[in-house]
Amino acid sequence: MKKLNDVLAEELESAFESAGFDRSYAKVTVSNRPDLCEYQCNGAMAAAKQYRMAPLQIAEQVVDRLHDSAVVTDVTAVRPGFINFRMNPEWLADFLNRLAQEEKLGVEQPERPQTIMIDYGGPNVAKPLHIGHLRSAIIGESIKRIGRFMGHRVIGDVHLGDWGLQIGLLIAELRLHQPELIYFDETYTGEYPENPPFTIGELEQLYPQASARSKEDEAFYAQALEATHLLQEGRRGYRALWQHIIHVSVEDIKKNYDRLNVSFDLWKKESDVQPYIPDMLAAMERQGIAREDDGALIVDVAEDDDAREIPPCIVRKSDGAALYTTTDLATLVEREREYHPDRIIYVADKRQELHFIQVFRTARKAGIVSEHTELEHIAFGTMNGKDGRPFKTRTGGVMRLETLLAEVNEEMEKKINEGRTMSQEEVESTAKLVALSAVKYGDLSNQASKDYVFDVDRFTSFEGNTGPYILYTIVRMKSILSKYQEQWGEVNGFSMLPAKSGEEKDVMLALTRFADVFQTAFEECAPHKICAYIYELSNHFNRFYHANKIMSEEDKAQRESWVALLCLTLRALESSIDVLGFCAPERM
Ligand code: ARG
Repeated sequence: MKKLNDVLAEELESAFESAGFDRSYAKVTVSNRPDLCEYQCNGAMAAAKQYRMAPLQIAEQVVDRLHDSAVVTDVTAVRPGFINFRMNPEWLADFLNRLAQEEKLGVEQPERPQTIMIDYGGPNVAKPLHIGHLRSAIIGESIKRIGRFMGHRVIGDVHLGDWGLQIGLLIAELRLHQPELIYFDETYTGEYPENPPFTIGELEQLYPQASARSKEDEAFYAQALEATHLLQEGRRGYRALWQHIIHVSVEDIKKNYDRLNVSFDLWKKESDVQPYIPDMLAAMERQGIAREDDGALIVDVAEDDDAREIPPCIVRKSDGAALYTTTDLATLVEREREYHPDRIIYVADKRQELHFIQVFRTARKAGIVSEHTELEHIAFGTMNGKDGRPFKTRTGGVMRLETLLAEVNEEMEKKINEGRTMSQEEVESTAKLVALSAVKYGDLSNQASKDYVFDVDRFTSFEGNTGPYILYTIVRMKSILSKYQEQWGEVNGFSMLPAKSGEEKDVMLALTRFADVFQTAFEECAPHKICAYIYELSNHFNRFYHANKIMSEEDKAQRESWVALLCLTLRALESSIDVLGFCAPERM
């Protein structure tokens, strides 16, 4: 079905044309003075020069052609040459009744669906998930869901970090504590035990110990490097330990992501692309794009118009080891080969910006990705505490994701308990859903590239621009619906009448924008635009609700019309929170 913007544009274009002006001037925008009009067109001002006429005169002539329009009404020409107008309420109601028939409220299946890969989450095995990984998971999950809603084939890959020094550190640390383990016996040739020699709890303690030790003890640091190297070379015992580490951590990581309502199609690891590395590097040397420098292999990626210096991309260290850039490039080799993506989106901290510039340029230079494959880094900012510094625990340590979620949960349970009308069990399950909305919306409602302050009090509030407020609005709608059904029976085949009040019309106008908002949010990878939209839609709905008594309305057609409007708004809100990655409880 034709989008409202397109309908309006055509309406104005033909008015410009029939008044003798070029149709390209007929650009329509939503009014920034809602008290005066709903939409406006400023084209008469732009046209004045070409036609050597006063803008107001042009505007008046265009307005003359719009008096019989079925789509727009209250069309006026206003000094110095604005064309102001409103939607015709009849036409608007009819438009929405048609929109309500559409599965996705006006979002249409793309002509050619794209294959899009999203690389997000990016946790590192053996290190507990901390809040630094929270943003990537939340934003990536939402971008993935938006893409799917728009009808594309979207593949989410967690891209586990499992190949770096952190594993060597752990192996060295474990050796200190338990040198007798069979994994350290080089002469051993039998099978290794099936069960890991540590629990996730023990593993998580080992890592900070190892990391601290490596900073004080040079010999230990050298052992960790050596262990990393031996692991990469294929030492059996180390490979077996590494498998255990991955296994134990992945189980834990999955549990955390489950709680966040985040899931991945692929659980690929950095180490999975090892087989591609030798050929890839050899090809770069052969093509003459990589050169030796101090024993390392590097690719020059600086470009003439760089505003800052972009150093060469190191693709192999002098000791022969692979780096973060190497595994990312080899991952691109695999992704091109197996999935032929149109677009690959990396959701990673903005401090990794240079890394991605280097990787993307190297990949293009080496022909690893085709020129049609779009590579994008969605660089997000830092999540800060109320003091404006990166979020920490009360004692100043790195906050674990679980701890953070538990704190928000607790706060939410308190709030829900205040007006308690439900069982303890329901309080807990409701608190979980609402807490998740608080955390996710708190994050997603900011433009991703910006830093933001994680403020539990504000995020968990039922008022203002928060997840709980949106859920509250949804829950209110559901409760009206079920009361309606109790009193009046099934809600089926109702249609909307023209709006009777400004409040009602505002809800209707907001609903017409759904498809456009989704389109923009998709193109710009901008979930915050969906947040802004549903906040506005919720506000409009709540105002409408307070101004009209839906349940006690005597006129059947009117009552049903309002219920139809409620149902459509509910669908818009529920589709939106679904792509943001959370859902609403039955009551709260
Ligand atoms: N594991 C990395 C980290 O913790 C993030 C990975 C991002 N994705 C990528 N393909 N480089 O910083």
